[in-house]
Amino acid sequence: MKRAMAETLHKGRMLWIILLSTIALAWTTPIPLIEDSEELDEPCFDPCYCEVKESLFHIHCDNKGFINISQITESWSRPFKLYLQRNSMRKLYTNSFLHLNNAVSINLGNNALQDIQTGAFNGLRVLKRLYLHENKLDIFRNDTFLGLESLEYLQADYNVIKRIESGAFRNLSKLRVLILNDNLIPMLPTNLFKSVSLTHLDLRGNRLKVLSYRGMLDHIGRSLMEIQLEENPWNCTCEIVQLKSWLERIPYTALVGDITCETPFHFHGKDLREIKRSKLCPMLSDSEVEASLGIPQLSSSKENAWPTKPSSMLSSFHFTASSVEYKTSNKQPKPTKQPRAPRPPPTPRGLYPGPNQPPVAAYQTRPPIPIICPTGCSCSLHINDLGLTVNCKERGFHNISELLPRPLNAKKLYLSGNLIQKIYRSDFWNFSSLDLLHLGNNRISYVQDGAFINLPNLKSLYLNGNDIERLTPGMFRGLQSLHYLYFEYNLIREIQPAAFSLMPNLKLLFLNARLNLRNNHFLALPVAGVLEHLHAIVQIDLKLNPWDCTCDLVPLKQWLEALSSVSVVGEVLCASPD
Ligand SMILES: *[C@@H]1O[C@H](CO)[C@@H](O)[C@H](O)[C@H]1NC(C)=O
Ligand SMILES: *[C@@H]1O[C@H](CO)[C@@H](O)[C@H](O)[C@H]1NC(C)=O
Ligand SMILES: *[C@@H]1O[C@H](CO)[C@@H](O)[C@H](O)[C@H]1NC(C)=O
Ligand SMILES: *[C@@H]1O[C@H](CO)[C@@H](O)[C@H](O)[C@H]1NC(C)=O
Ligand SMILES: *[C@@H]1O[C@H](CO)[C@@H](O)[C@H](O)[C@H]1NC(C)=O
Ligand SMILES: *[C@@H]1O[C@H](CO)[C@@H](O)[C@H](O)[C@H]1NC(C)=O
Repeated sequence: MKRAMAETLHKGRMLWIILLSTIALAWTTPIPLIEDSEELDEPCFDPCYCEVKESLFHIHCDNKGFINISQITESWSRPFKLYLQRNSMRKLYTNSFLHLNNAVSINLGNNALQDIQTGAFNGLRVLKRLYLHENKLDIFRNDTFLGLESLEYLQADYNVIKRIESGAFRNLSKLRVLILNDNLIPMLPTNLFKSVSLTHLDLRGNRLKVLSYRGMLDHIGRSLMEIQLEENPWNCTCEIVQLKSWLERIPYTALVGDITCETPFHFHGKDLREIKRSKLCPMLSDSEVEASLGIPQLSSSKENAWPTKPSSMLSSFHFTASSVEYKTSNKQPKPTKQPRAPRPPPTPRGLYPGPNQPPVAAYQTRPPIPIICPTGCSCSLHINDLGLTVNCKERGFHNISELLPRPLNAKKLYLSGNLIQKIYRSDFWNFSSLDLLHLGNNRISYVQDGAFINLPNLKSLYLNGNDIERLTPGMFRGLQSLHYLYFEYNLIREIQPAAFSLMPNLKLLFLNARLNLRNNHFLALPVAGVLEHLHAIVQIDLKLNPWDCTCDLVPLKQWLEALSSVSVVGEVLCASPD
């Protein structure tokens, strides 16, 4: 205690001295401000302020209302970093930066950039870092980055990029870190990465459905230390085997987060790595698939093809830059106490290493607006709808009412792997914007009538892996938009008449595993009043149930036969009678 106090006092004195000298300086020259006792040997530029740190000149022009680079009329003869965040620039004109040719880092984050003219960056031959995050860019053209031959780091998260031309990075031979999360990228063109050797690639929160091997993944293997692909609508059909195979070959620590399938229906919500290749591609054998794609054989050449790097290398990847928002960290983010009020940035974008994965490095990008996140959870923001993904997986929650403060505009809420036993009507009062609710693998045995009544936008509801015994109509009241309902691995003994009648849009119903109807012959998944309500059903999964194939099951048999065969996943096998 005493020592801490002494230290505080000591620091306090230092602070005074610094303050005094700053004040003294401020009397004579309001700007620049000198720190670290390194001297300014070049002019600053009004209204910016400048400092020398680690022998680099730093020019701080954040939030000064600039609308055009041409307003920066000064130039500097030694290497410098230029900070232009939170200004109002809409456009970068050709040759804008010619007089700023000694810049090593330029931060244009949080402007209103919509357009980068051809040759805008001409002359920036020593520029290593370029920040374009939180703008309104919608395309990277072949000529967008012309002239940036030293660029190592490009950050453009939270834009609205819909298209990247295949030559956009072709002359950026030094590019190592590319941050493109939270854009609207639907596909990446062949050969985009042909002439770059990326170590870090962040593509989270885009619209990617597949990534092909030839001309894409084969160009990002050798140097890769980290790739992030979460929160894309992956289409898990035969084509995605290329991505799956590639993932099996890259260093184990390189993939951060899950690759969750969005389509087709029967793989919705599943992790790509857990789906057998034969399920994705029933017509072809593994080796046929791989041979046709030119994917190297796993067994023979794994070591050689993909050198694995120790995870400690991740943290040794540093630029000499200080005072930037981007840090590599080899610590897994811990849930931190969050204030109730909207908090100031930076808020790290959620990073969730899978189970059994070592902590990973991450370039943490921050969302453009302050977000409210319940204590103990991590949240990330999607640029396309400003919706929040709230991740509270495996945090030991007993009660949903513990989730405080309530987030605004939450679209996805993951509460899987907690200790929740009961769901109350009041639990989701402040979650009306949810489209996905994951309550899988809790201990839920009680769902109050009307529990989900305030979730009119909910499309996916996961209740798998709980202790629910009875499905009643009251449980599902209000779920008028629900498409996907997951109930596998519960203890269901009874489905009451009209249980599904209030979900007119239900397309996919998982009831497999332990749907125990054996003791409930009279109610054995009745068609009348139950299944007949499933008008929109596209798929139903009934496997692993101990079907009692007596006369009572005839309506079910007829109902199943009337569905097209693709609708019924897996076999419906009789357990009795002998
Ligand atoms: C911005 O500067 C460029 C020159 O770099 C000039 O051509 C353009 O007209 C300026 N635009 C605005 C809106 O001032
Ligand atoms: C961009 O460059 C690539 C290869 O360098 C070329 O194939 C493509 O046609 C170019 N696209 C446009 C729109 O110019
Ligand atoms: C790209 O780089 C090559 C050499 O590396 C050069 O010949 C070419 O002119 C450059 N292209 C552009 C558009 O800068
Ligand atoms: C997924 O891929 C299959 C096969 O290539 C295609 O038919 C289907 O339309 C794709 N689905 C989506 C949502 O893109
Ligand atoms: C859980 O929340 C409900 C409703 O908010 C409340 O009635 C109940 O007492 C809470 N239970 C515990 C154990 O905190
Ligand atoms: C939920 O929202 C209402 C207003 O819509 C507010 O009064 C209430 O405090 C909120 N509850 C929580 C737990 O934040």
